[in-house]
Order: sequence, then C-alpha cells, then structure tokens
Amino acid sequence: MSSERSSFTGKIGFVLAAAGSAVGLGNIWRFPYLAAKYGGGIFLLVYIVLAITFGFTLMITEIAIGRKTKLSAIGAYRSLNKKFSFIGYLAAIVPIIILPYYSVIGGWVIKYLAGFVSGRGDAMASGMTYFGGFIGTTVEPILWFLLFLGLTAVVVLLGVEKGVEKVSKIMMPALIALILFIAIYAIVTIDGAWEGVKYYFMPDFSKFSIMTVVAAMGQLFYSMSLAMGIMITYGSYMKKDISIEKSAKQIEIFDTGIAILAGLLIVPAVYAFSGGDEAALGAGPGLMFGTLPQIFDVMPFGDVIGAVFFIMVFFAAITSSISLMETVVSIIQDRFHTSRRMTCLIVIGICLLLGIPSSLGFGLWSNFTILGLSILDFFDFISNNVIMPLVALATCIFVAFVLKPKSIEDELEIGGKAKKRYLFNIVVKFIAPICLIVILVSSVLNVFGVISI
Ligand code: PHE
Repeated sequence: MSSERSSFTGKIGFVLAAAGSAVGLGNIWRFPYLAAKYGGGIFLLVYIVLAITFGFTLMITEIAIGRKTKLSAIGAYRSLNKKFSFIGYLAAIVPIIILPYYSVIGGWVIKYLAGFVSGRGDAMASGMTYFGGFIGTTVEPILWFLLFLGLTAVVVLLGVEKGVEKVSKIMMPALIALILFIAIYAIVTIDGAWEGVKYYFMPDFSKFSIMTVVAAMGQLFYSMSLAMGIMITYGSYMKKDISIEKSAKQIEIFDTGIAILAGLLIVPAVYAFSGGDEAALGAGPGLMFGTLPQIFDVMPFGDVIGAVFFIMVFFAAITSSISLMETVVSIIQDRFHTSRRMTCLIVIGICLLLGIPSSLGFGLWSNFTILGLSILDFFDFISNNVIMPLVALATCIFVAFVLKPKSIEDELEIGGKAKKRYLFNIVVKFIAPICLIVILVSSVLNVFGVISI
C-alpha cells in the first residue's frame, strides 16, 4: 500500500465519516423493531450495557488495528499474523451479504418517500396491510430496489461521496430534531402512547431471555459497523494524534442516541395502535413502514412531515450503503486487481443475485424459507448472528492471546491516554469470548430448533 495513504483532516472528520457509515437503516429501521419484539425496556438495557463494554472494546480494537497497520481488514490481519488472515476474509464476506438486502430495504424507503412526496401518504396509513400488500407484489419492490442500488452505484462510480456526505451532515442533525419532534407529538396526542413509553423504557426482567442478548449483540455489530472490517479501514486513515478512545465514544453516543430516539418514535406508537398486542410488537422488518404512516396520518401536515422524514432517512441509508459498496468494491479490487468500473459491475451483479430473491421472499417466493426464515431474514441472520460473532470472537482471541492486548493499548496511547485499559483487558480476554461463544451456540441451536428460547 502506498505510504501516502490519505487521512481524515481532523478529529471531527474521522468521527463524522465513521458516524455516517454507522448511522443508517440499522438505527431507524432495525433497532426499533428489535426493541419492540424483544421486550422493550429490557432490550434497551441489554443493548446499552453491551455497547459500553463489548461494543466499545471491539470498536477501539478495530480502529487501532487499522491505524497500526495502515491496511484494510484482509491485509491488516495478514500483516499482523499470517495464520490469522482468515479473520480478514471472514469479515470481508459480511458487507457482501448485507449490501443486497440493505438495498432492498432502501428501496422500500424510496417507495414511501415517493408516496409522501406525491401526497398519497394517507393511503399508506393502514398499518401493516398496505405494507404487506406492497412487498408481496413481484415487480414493484424490485424496481425500487434497483433504483436505490443504482443511485448508490452512481455515487460510488463517480466518486462523489464527499458531496453526499456534505448533504448528510446537514440532514443528520435535522433528522434527529425531526424524530424528536414527531416522537413527542405522537406520545402527547396518541391515546395509550404513554403506556408504550413505559414499555420501551422500563425493563421487565421477566421478558429477558438469551435471545434478548443474541438480538442485541447482532444489532450492535450491525449498527456500529463492527466485525466486518469497516472500522479497520476507517482506522487506517486515522491520524496518530487523535484519541481512539474518545472518537469511539463519540461514535457510539451518536449511533446509540439516534437508535434510542428512533425507537421512541416507533415503539410507543405501535404499542398504542395495537393496545400492546404481542403480535403487532413482534411484526419484524416491516414495523417502521407499518407504523410511521399511521403516525403521520394523525398529524397536521402529516404528508409534508412524512415526506421530509423519509427524505432524511433516505440520506442516512444511502451514506451507509455507499460505505458498504465502497468496502465491497475495494475488497474485490484488492484481490482481483480489476478496474473500478468492472468491479462496480461485478458488485451490482452480486447484489442482483442476492437482492432480487430477498425481495421475492415476501411474495412470489414466500413459501421458500431457509431454516424457517424468509430469504431477507436469512441473510440478516447469517451475517449478524453467525458470521459477525465469529469474526468478533476470532478477533478477541487473536488480540488477547496472540497479538497481546499490550500492542493495542500502545496504539491507543499514541493519541491520548488510554483510560480504559482495565476494562479493555478484561473484556477482550474473558467477557467477550465467553459471551460470544454462548451467543453463537444458542443462536445457531435456536434456528435449528434444537432449543427454543
Ligand atoms: N451501520 C449501518 C446501519 O446502521 C449499516 C452498515 C453496516 C453500514 C456496515 C455500513 C457498513 O445502517
């Protein structure tokens, strides 16, 4: 790799770029439906505890590995220890699996955006009925998927990410303000929403199961773009005089804050509209699309607010899909030395191959399930709950027992005092590996039906 690897201009540049990748559909679409499904407050609590301990440790480790080696995942692990280069390859598979189905959901966002912009928001306000009908059709969702994928590819091909990032720097704070405004409005005006707020914030320990931890951990990886080599790449561009710990903390606060707010927007509303019905709370991937139009429907100027909201979500989603596609393109380019154009075409091909079945899995191919999961859910499961924990486990074992924590700590010390050495050591050596093994085993046994949790 060339010695003139470009770097982020300053501290805030790094944090914002990493946050742009981290904040996306994971926060706005995925977190709320998991929180609703896995018991509200208890999920929130488990998630926060994991973010502070486990997520933080993994994030500083990945950034430090990147900055130390100045390489992205595959090269980084190889340069540290040849025997462990498999971790880099394993991590590289993840964005390849995620990008296609991420684009399917990005397509749903554009569909709703178009619906609200053209003033047809009220037609969408029937909860899950409209949404179920839409994703059940064959052609339409695929067209929206192609549009989202195409837009992502155009940005990556033209290399105009910077422009998109600039826009999203304005969009992000605006999105936070809007989510907060809509959430408060919904809670104050919708009957029964207050009960939902309690469900969301008060942990009910009887709802705790190992699946709460499995789901929260998978979400953590997904939302913070961990265990897939992305933070290693970002770290490789980071300057030495910046504190890794501080930056990681800021990214986490930003990412988790938006997720919690998005949950506050969606969970109490579903709770109120359904009277706390378990089936409605467990609606899964469609939850956001079922609930939000219902909220906008009861708001004055709901169509306008809905349109603005979905435009912002679209920007959050596209900055993430760009960083996913960039990663996949650079992995393939590094490996096969293909031209950028050619590589983009290959990536689009892969996305069509995996994305179209993901979309059809809700309609034409709905009888076809893998391990009892729809095709999209299967890709989501296999990446978040199997491969990412594996990558994280291998990383922890590698850092704890082969590379030794000291070498990461030394890297942390370069840009500032490493304050959390003790936490880092314990988590990386004991807590993380044990948790990860339990999680991996139980999520796999669960899906094979050996145990039911
Ligand atoms: N973290 C992003 C989100 O929350 C998803 C993503 C994963 C983006 C990996 C880039 C890389 O939506």
